[in-house]
Amino acid sequence: MRIKEISFRGFRNLKDASIEPSEGINIICGENAQGKTNFLEAIWLFTGGRSFRGTKDKDLVRFGEHEVFLEIKEKIYDREQRLKIEIKNGKRYVIINKVPQQSASAMVGQMCAVVFSPNHLDLIKSGPNVRRKFLDTAICQLQPLYTEHFLKYNHVLSQRNMLLRQLKKSKKLIDTLDIWEDKLVELGSELILRRETYVKKLKKISAEIYLGLSAGKEKLFLQYKNITAKEKSLKKEQIKKDFKEALKNSREEDLSMGFTTKGPHRDELEIKINEKSARQFSSQGQQRSAVLAIKLAETELVRQTIGEDPIILLDDVLSELDGKRQSYLLRSIPRKQVFITCCETELTKKLKAEKVFEISDGAFL
Ligand SMILES: Nc1ncnc2c1ncn2[C@@H]1O[C@H](COP(=O)(O)OP(=O)(O)OP(=O)(O)O)[C@@H](O)[C@H]1O
Ligand SMILES: [Mg+2]
Repeated sequence: MRIKEISFRGFRNLKDASIEPSEGINIICGENAQGKTNFLEAIWLFTGGRSFRGTKDKDLVRFGEHEVFLEIKEKIYDREQRLKIEIKNGKRYVIINKVPQQSASAMVGQMCAVVFSPNHLDLIKSGPNVRRKFLDTAICQLQPLYTEHFLKYNHVLSQRNMLLRQLKKSKKLIDTLDIWEDKLVELGSELILRRETYVKKLKKISAEIYLGLSAGKEKLFLQYKNITAKEKSLKKEQIKKDFKEALKNSREEDLSMGFTTKGPHRDELEIKINEKSARQFSSQGQQRSAVLAIKLAETELVRQTIGEDPIILLDDVLSELDGKRQSYLLRSIPRKQVFITCCETELTKKLKAEKVFEISDGAFL
């Protein structure tokens, strides 16, 4: 998919404008605090997701104003589409090809994008919950059924946890634990299986990209760690058996803690560089390269699944990469529509961008 035109009105510090990007590499260049990330954020909203900076919709409205209007003309599967987003009174409205939609979630799937911003270094620096969230979000985008299992699993999990806390006071309902556990095992093993399959593909592609980024010198290694016996290919029945057993073995502990200590809600996506934990031992540049490799691999998996390249949004990605890594990155993203922000005009010459947009105080020059 390709964005042909994007228009914005009342969005953050951006001056009302209409931009026609190139279908290849676009650079948004400007000093700090001029509106570069805001521009990427405006594009990102067309994925149907929330701001990648975690900002609430009502705070995206320009200070002192009341409404936001965003519009994109895009080419997807050789068709032209017009997507509109309006934010009024903190609520988001969505219009697709002139048809107002009942729910803002109708935008999901109309435009796919993968974003890399400095916040995403959390993927390495933070705890396992951030990596689980990354996995869940990536798979949810591609498999509606996963979303369904995921929501149900979390519901059943909170039911079991509530019951565990009740059982601390009275053992009367102890038999109902079995019922919740069976449901938890059924839904949980579906999550484990789908995550395992996804990580297997992600691992292979991200390792290839990382090898290229480091000029063949370093290895990136991902591993999905879960409740099952390791190092063999997973079958659903086996996962169910292992998960059930784990729940049985941890019942005493769960009862005393008052929550479920085993299951996919505690899984980990391990990230290693040269066989050492990236979180503990890697440099800033290595961590940035690893996240970038994972994000670019995610891009490739979207393409394989939906048959279209997603839009790539790279916010401030170049600053900690050395020259070789920068050139590899740029070589590895041809034929895709990319938006890269940077602060130095020097860089723009090196990047061989099809279009360079300079931005100052929210205005495109
Ligand atoms: N709702 C809003 N209304 C008006 N201005 C806003 C709003 N939200 C943020 N801003 C302003 O937008 C400005 C630009 O923010 P942005 O994050 O896009 O900068 P940037 O160009 O990416 O800078 P950097 O190079 O430091 O990352 C900030 O100075 C901020 O105060
Ligand atoms: Mg920025």
